[in-house]
Amino acid sequence: MNPFRYGQVVKGRDFCRRPWLIKQLMNFIETGQNVFLQGERRTGKTSLIHEAVRKLAGYRLLYIDLLEVKTIGDMCRRMITSILRAERKGGLQRKLMQTLAHLKPSLSIDPVTGFPTISLDPRIAMRPDSIEGILDLIAGLGRRGKLVVSFDEFQDVLNIKESAEALALLRSRIQFHGNITYLFAGSIKNRMNCIFTDPESPFFKSAASLEVGHIDDDAFVPFLKGKFASGKRDISKDTVRSVIRKAGGIPGDVQEVCACIWDVTSEGEQLTVKHLAPALSMIFARENKAYEAALVQLTGQHLRCLVTLAKTGGTKPLSAEFLEESGIRTASSVQAALKRLVKLKIIYQHKGAYRFANPFFGSWLIWKGY
Ligand SMILES: Nc1ncnc2c1ncn2[C@@H]1O[C@H](COP(=O)(O)OP(=O)(O)OP(=O)(O)O)[C@@H](O)[C@H]1O
Ligand SMILES: [Mg+2]
Repeated sequence: MNPFRYGQVVKGRDFCRRPWLIKQLMNFIETGQNVFLQGERRTGKTSLIHEAVRKLAGYRLLYIDLLEVKTIGDMCRRMITSILRAERKGGLQRKLMQTLAHLKPSLSIDPVTGFPTISLDPRIAMRPDSIEGILDLIAGLGRRGKLVVSFDEFQDVLNIKESAEALALLRSRIQFHGNITYLFAGSIKNRMNCIFTDPESPFFKSAASLEVGHIDDDAFVPFLKGKFASGKRDISKDTVRSVIRKAGGIPGDVQEVCACIWDVTSEGEQLTVKHLAPALSMIFARENKAYEAALVQLTGQHLRCLVTLAKTGGTKPLSAEFLEESGIRTASSVQAALKRLVKLKIIYQHKGAYRFANPFFGSWLIWKGY
């Protein structure tokens, strides 16, 4: 069986050691220090949270995913569903029903997953203060045992029209939950930053920051080599390093390329960089349609800018060399193109450079000869 895992939370043997980060996070949790974890996509934020809580004896995790929440109703429903999943005891479910009585809730069991689910009367609009009652229920959970509450993709709260009110309510309530550690994780740096570092924000300086970056080669290279060896495939450390670089160093993308290399090779084979090309072709075949759909949204100038980023790296997009290579006449036109590409979430800015949200898209553009 293919030993590489991607697109999912990894744990146990599939979790490559990150001793420094795990230790930091465990210390924060044990001292009740709230934390905001930030990093690029697929760097392992969610896995890190699960692994740290799993290693701490006696702690429970209430995991609330806020990905793409758009309304207060969405946010409340995500919180309620997480509470229901974490706590199946009748007492808490009764309390939940009482708290939400004004929303006419009905409880049922999902026939497919077997999980309890709650449906609320869709005609009754939720308001920011609905969050308060739900937070009180979480406080009740915290009184019964050691609890970590994790809000994942927390930056998406900013999609909500009443986000300022929701954030203020959240902050004012959780500051009294001294026995619960809150973790806020998010991917899009600037938006996460503005919640925790803008003096106007209710969350200003309310949590310690922890950056989840790439996994150290010292740990990741032997981890990946060991996975290949489990299927009798030999690969040199240098080749593993080349694979890591090709995937932009992002752990989730690295594991995806490795999974494809595994699929295009067999037991007993010596793996080399020549296996990268067929592995990438597999990824391209899978993602071709999505890449083409992304291109439809671009003008010729946007595309020139994107292809030049892929070819030259995104560190100096306003340089004379970039203009010459791209054929775009002015730096302000490049700037406009970059702004559009960021808005479309095809690229993002990180440590002063522009990077592809999906590193394989850049390789595909070059491979296709754009
Ligand atoms: N410690 C690790 N060891 C090995 N692989 C890892 C590790 N952490 C993350 N990965 C790889 O990255 C993938 C994504 O992990 P995870 O979902 O935890 O990241 P994330 O930062 O929360 O991603 P997203 O930004 O999409 O929410 C995993 O499926 C796995 O392939
Ligand atoms: Mg995540």
